[in-house]
Amino acid sequence: MGGAGADFGHIPVLMDEVLSHIVRPMTRSVLDATLGAGGHAEAILKAMDQVRLIGMDRDDMAIAIARRRLAPYGDRATVARADYSHIGRLLDEQGLAGVDAILMDLGVSSMQLDDPARGFSFSHDGPLDMRMDRSGPVSARDLVNSADEKELVRIFREYGEEKNAPRIARAIVNQRAASPIETTGQLAAIVAACSFSPPGRRRIHPATRVFQAIRIAVNKELELLGRSLETAVDRLNPGGRIAVISFHSLEDRIVKRAFQRMASSCVCPKGVPVCVCGQKPRVQVITKKPVAPSEEEAESNPRARSARLRVAERLAA
Ligand SMILES: C[S@@+](CC[C@H](N)C(=O)[O-])C[C@H]1O[C@@H](n2cnc3c(N)ncnc32)[C@H](O)[C@@H]1O
Repeated sequence: MGGAGADFGHIPVLMDEVLSHIVRPMTRSVLDATLGAGGHAEAILKAMDQVRLIGMDRDDMAIAIARRRLAPYGDRATVARADYSHIGRLLDEQGLAGVDAILMDLGVSSMQLDDPARGFSFSHDGPLDMRMDRSGPVSARDLVNSADEKELVRIFREYGEEKNAPRIARAIVNQRAASPIETTGQLAAIVAACSFSPPGRRRIHPATRVFQAIRIAVNKELELLGRSLETAVDRLNPGGRIAVISFHSLEDRIVKRAFQRMASSCVCPKGVPVCVCGQKPRVQVITKKPVAPSEEEAESNPRARSARLRVAERLAA
């Protein structure tokens, strides 16, 4: 399983676990909302001859790779560059009222992280960019050089859970007053210089959390997710399943809460004596706890270590 796809630059995570939840006799149509290199998508097409797959991604490079990879499947696979906040529009264009399964494998791909020109990683020096959609209006360079100090502190705290946020924000503001911060290497060095722990005692690179936070802010990753999950569930056929893989606790919390909300029979505020919301449960949560990778997978693919899978099933109306 996992090894398949390394030649496309990204090893799909939790492959067996995803397939075990969505390969079912009823499955005729699948939406992969985060196509990446198309590893999960190809495995889905291989596992079920009867399936039509619609794949979307907001990254034009991912789309080019996935298109090439899925070409042998002819009209069983449709590939489109689009943001998953536009799931409804894409399915309308394809003439599909609903699908039987939806996969969202969130976050960044190895192709994005490993390409210095994309500016996602502190391990490779490159221009500070981090946009998944390269036509997007705000790059990491724009954000780092123009957000005010308070906003930088908020971003580092909220999206990076970075304890050292004020000190790092101050160092950035001081540096950019002299000259703009242009590269991932410059930013990583500024953050590392603010770190309190000596290099030998660090578990992770001191810039890890700040880079994660900037990436989340630039791509508005958390803002789009909750609403997109609701739209996705709206477009699932009864009995259809949504499988979501997240890579950090902020994302996983949004997925968990969205599933809980949609599984609930009442969303009235606490303290309301009688239910007035009239909500009916829309899903049943299939994974009571998030599914983590096996030891073997975590060992062979370090990027899988933080992956967590949650699955919910659409109930009949
Ligand atoms: C972890 S990769 C997916 C890898 C894929 N499952 C595979 O097997 O190759 C995540 C992908 O989601 C895409 N992505 C992230 N946020 C998105 C959004 N809001 N809309 C569409 N695609 C998004 C990224 O561009 C990236 O290619």
